[in-house]
Amino acid sequence: MIKGNDQVLPGLQKLVQVLDTAVAGRSAAHAYAGVRAALPLLVGDAQVQLPALAYRPHPEHYARHELYCSREHGYCVVAMVWAPGQGAPVHDHDGRWCVEAVWSGQLEVTDWQLLEADDDAGWRFARGASQRQCAGDCAGLQGTAQYHSVYNPDPKKVAVSLHVYQRRLQQCTVFQADSNGRYWPRPQALAADA
Ligand SMILES: [Fe+2]
Repeated sequence: MIKGNDQVLPGLQKLVQVLDTAVAGRSAAHAYAGVRAALPLLVGDAQVQLPALAYRPHPEHYARHELYCSREHGYCVVAMVWAPGQGAPVHDHDGRWCVEAVWSGQLEVTDWQLLEADDDAGWRFARGASQRQCAGDCAGLQGTAQYHSVYNPDPKKVAVSLHVYQRRLQQCTVFQADSNGRYWPRPQALAADA
């Protein structure tokens, strides 16, 4: 919605203020830790109101709605909407840190540990812990070798999550498993949905 400027939507002033404080003048690692600590506290805060756009699902895949990008600090806030059963396969975050918090509904987030990166024979991953997250629960990725998958396990209810990226994420790598349990990387452009 907002393309690379620092216009703050009504209802997001407090969110932006808190995130600015969490990242200002800090290294990437400390900014990540600051956002990781701050974001869950903003879920359910009556002073933070997401725009109607942030609740709009897409019929074919989870929806991405960019809400804010900080020109000064570089971080970017994206709302994602997950209809029942919708998800994202194993993916990276293009080497940037990301903090996500469930805003409403629930999500299942699974960590994946990379065992072997072989573009000819297929990549191998070990499935790590899965976490069923409800509103206010938070997870994140930091560093270049981190992977997770996300889906909405609820049969009826749409889930909304708020994602803060170190920088606007324009592409990532997704991994689809074959019948032998090998994963094949594919670059995926990350567009905003209407
Ligand atoms: Fe992710």
